[in-house]
Amino acid sequence: MRRVQIAPSLLAADFSRLGAELALIEPFADLLHLDVMDGHFVPNLSFGMPVISSLRSHISLPFDCHLMTNNPLALMEPLRESGADLITVHIEAVPNPVDAAGLAGELGLRFGLVVSPATPVESVEPFLELCDLLLVMSVVPGFGGQAFMPEALPKLEKVATWVDSRGLAVDIEVDGGINPQTAALARAAGANVFVAGTTVFGAPDPVVAIKELRAAVEP
Ligand code: DX5
Ligand code: ZN
Repeated sequence: MRRVQIAPSLLAADFSRLGAELALIEPFADLLHLDVMDGHFVPNLSFGMPVISSLRSHISLPFDCHLMTNNPLALMEPLRESGADLITVHIEAVPNPVDAAGLAGELGLRFGLVVSPATPVESVEPFLELCDLLLVMSVVPGFGGQAFMPEALPKLEKVATWVDSRGLAVDIEVDGGINPQTAALARAAGANVFVAGTTVFGAPDPVVAIKELRAAVEP
């Protein structure tokens, strides 16, 4: 069984006090999810290398960088230098991800592919062997605080079937609208990495929110 991992998403944190917000949640989280947006692949902007490298010296959690950018290959080396551990790229931005996976390997980055809600999950199926992780979006990428789209569930089930039938060590991540209820649905469909922005950083107590998420998905 793939290990449950909780990945709070920085996008929902209070950017005026990132150090304090992250120090609070660090002992209770498994990964830090970092949404990098370019204003082109998605209509929004978020943050980039200067923010990520500043955080790197304060936090030891692995950095899960979700690239919502048109040219993710150009960002891989600077992100590695800024402290990224895992890079995920959208299949819509890089329809043939062989070179991206190869570059990630050369840089010592873990590599994952991402599927947006409008994209058939079959688009990533030929490339699963290149991946350490597969991310199924459960909202339209670009903004936090949206409602979970249940259309992600059959996609997660398909990915889990492919991964298990081929005996692959690929983590299955879900991102968007994750709370204890939707996390439990995604877990039942095969997900093991749960990204949560609003549910964690919008909660009165982010640590309690992480514990509630974990309780909802751990056996
Ligand atoms: C959306 C981002 C998400 C976002 C999730 O484009 O990929 O990681 O932070 O936010 P919530 O958990 O609020 O849906
Ligand atoms: Zn994300």
